[in-house]
Amino acid sequence: MNLKKQTRRRFLTGGAAATVGAAAVGTAAGIHLSHNGTAGAEPSSRPHAPATIPFFGAHQPGIADPTPSNAVFLAFDLKTSATKSDLADVMRAWTDLSAALMRGDTSVDTSLVSTGSAPGKFTMTVGLGGTSLDQLGIPRPPALVDLPLFPGDELEAAASHGGVFVQLCSDDAVYLGGAVRAVRAAAKRVLRPRWQFNGFRGAAASTSSSNGRNLMGQIDGTNNAAVSRASTGGPVWVDAASPEWMTGGSYVAVRRFRMLLSAWESAGSNTRDRAVGRHISSGAPLGADKESDPVDLSATDSSGAPVIPHDAHIRLAAPRRGAGEEMLRRSYSYSMGQASGSAGDEEAGLIFVSYQADPTTSFIPVQQRLAKADALAHFTLATSSALFAILPGVVGKHDWYGRSLLS
Ligand code: HEM
Repeated sequence: MNLKKQTRRRFLTGGAAATVGAAAVGTAAGIHLSHNGTAGAEPSSRPHAPATIPFFGAHQPGIADPTPSNAVFLAFDLKTSATKSDLADVMRAWTDLSAALMRGDTSVDTSLVSTGSAPGKFTMTVGLGGTSLDQLGIPRPPALVDLPLFPGDELEAAASHGGVFVQLCSDDAVYLGGAVRAVRAAAKRVLRPRWQFNGFRGAAASTSSSNGRNLMGQIDGTNNAAVSRASTGGPVWVDAASPEWMTGGSYVAVRRFRMLLSAWESAGSNTRDRAVGRHISSGAPLGADKESDPVDLSATDSSGAPVIPHDAHIRLAAPRRGAGEEMLRRSYSYSMGQASGSAGDEEAGLIFVSYQADPTTSFIPVQQRLAKADALAHFTLATSSALFAILPGVVGKHDWYGRSLLS
């Protein structure tokens, strides 16, 4: 039995479950950047929020945009016989489909049973995995590495990696369901479905925070520093660099973490707070009062011990100054009901999603640090892992996803 399983068993047998109930599960992030990078308040919090997001632009939508309450993440493999021109056909078809769905036009595909419903801030975001480029003999961008196996990972092979990626988001789960079918139908000659993750965020804030809570009851998204800087390019967008077809694109890391919820609920509140480095109830950093208070990693208590422990999640995750470690997190919760073979525990957790300009300086070193020493990792298990290159945005009517790579 591996260490994670031993740890988990130890936690599962200890103490009565505390209540981290449905009331603690919150809503989507408050501050966002629109598709063209303008900062503003979360549209759903405004009385007459627009239900559509613009499609055309230098960057794809669904990254520096608001996080609607539902998301579906899809990965595909390229069929063995597929050529570059076959993949180009899929990308052209998906461009038309995405443009139509984002403006609320469901007449484009017979799979769209949800005709007549509103898009609910629908976005579609498309990327390529290293395996499809390898298969087509296209050199990979240097940042599109194979993700290493991180310490403690127990990955399901069929739910990891992949050659092509699509992220679909909407406030309307039915609209999203139709979109998933249409995306698959347009690709079925060329792509084989590999995995699908369905995610959700709460519809209304459960606290005074503008950030929602995850299934562990934690306010998640407070120090999502990259949001305020996404428009300037640095942390999220690939600038005119290598290769040219990635200019304006990004890289997405997708990691599914099962939460060991019985263990988390059985742990005392002090243990839970120290694992994160914040008070779970308020979201305030340890040693502070409010969620918005700055994190002081140098603070010590009267005995000289750090107020935010050495192994606290926020200490280890905090980007090292000047190291290019920043990322834009855009995670969703998931639940698949009771886990088989573990009475009382759920197959539920977090679909961790982060966008960054270079995962080799940001996501990968941060994840290495967390996997080695993060106290929160005693309560989670990574079961899926993937990295994709997100193509630049579609800039006009004659453009399509990946045109400069595939035409
Ligand atoms: C189940 C897995 C995870 C959970 C439940 C989780 C939860 C949290 C929570 C509650 C916070 C504090 C509030 C905030 O600033 O958003 C936080 C912060 C953060 N997390 Fe995670 N997280 C998870 C995995 C990850 C992973 C895999 C990474 C990156 C590899 C990561 C990167 C970060 C960063 C960069 C921060 C902000 C740190 C700071 O500068 O204060 N998290 N996370």
